[in-house]
Amino acid sequence: MFKLKIIIASTRPGRKGPSITQWVYEVAKTHPEFNTEIVDLAVINLPLLDEAEHPRLQKYTQQHTKDWSAIIDAADAYIIVTSEYNYGYPATLKNAIDFLYNEWCYKPAGIVSYGGLSGGIRAVQQLKQVLSSVKMVPLAESVNIPFFTKHIDAEGKFTADDILNRSLETMLKELAIWTEAMKQMREKKKG
Ligand SMILES: Cc1cc2nc3c(=O)[nH]c(=O)nc-3n(C[C@H](O)[C@H](O)[C@H](O)COP(=O)(O)O)c2cc1C
Repeated sequence: MFKLKIIIASTRPGRKGPSITQWVYEVAKTHPEFNTEIVDLAVINLPLLDEAEHPRLQKYTQQHTKDWSAIIDAADAYIIVTSEYNYGYPATLKNAIDFLYNEWCYKPAGIVSYGGLSGGIRAVQQLKQVLSSVKMVPLAESVNIPFFTKHIDAEGKFTADDILNRSLETMLKELAIWTEAMKQMREKKKG
């Protein structure tokens, strides 16, 4: 079974990220090849990067970096649920990525984005570029949710329509293929 971590990128009070993530989590849980867990950056609560050495060296001095390293290292795959802020992805996510290096390498990432008309696709494009620099493989099959608020009720529950459910299923199937292949790659690399 592969370990899948679903990362909630937004951290602001009143954020909608957790509602959308709950839907992603419920669907992912129906895929028996994944052992799925939510990782909430608001709970992780990292400060702005405060390590002196490049993360490649893993000379971590702060307990929060060591804890974050352990969480990310333990995963075989990620789904990143991201909002779009000013045509980009949230700074909280960039900061969380920058803290580490090796822990991300040779792992696949599916991206779920949400926003207005664009469904957050500008944030996705930016994010893909950065994920590639830490040797992650961002999947081509992202899930983009335009006008996402129409799917959220008064209790904050997100309800997907058929198109979104199919889109997420497609991404999860693709994620399973990449996860298996990349796990083999990591094992080969370890020698
Ligand atoms: C600082 C800020 C910038 C935003 N910029 C965009 C944007 O570029 N594109 C977009 O579709 N929505 C934008 N929005 C609206 C967000 O889609 C909406 O607030 C959403 O709920 C943000 O995700 P969150 O609730 O998880 O933080 C922005 C919201 C904030 C707070």
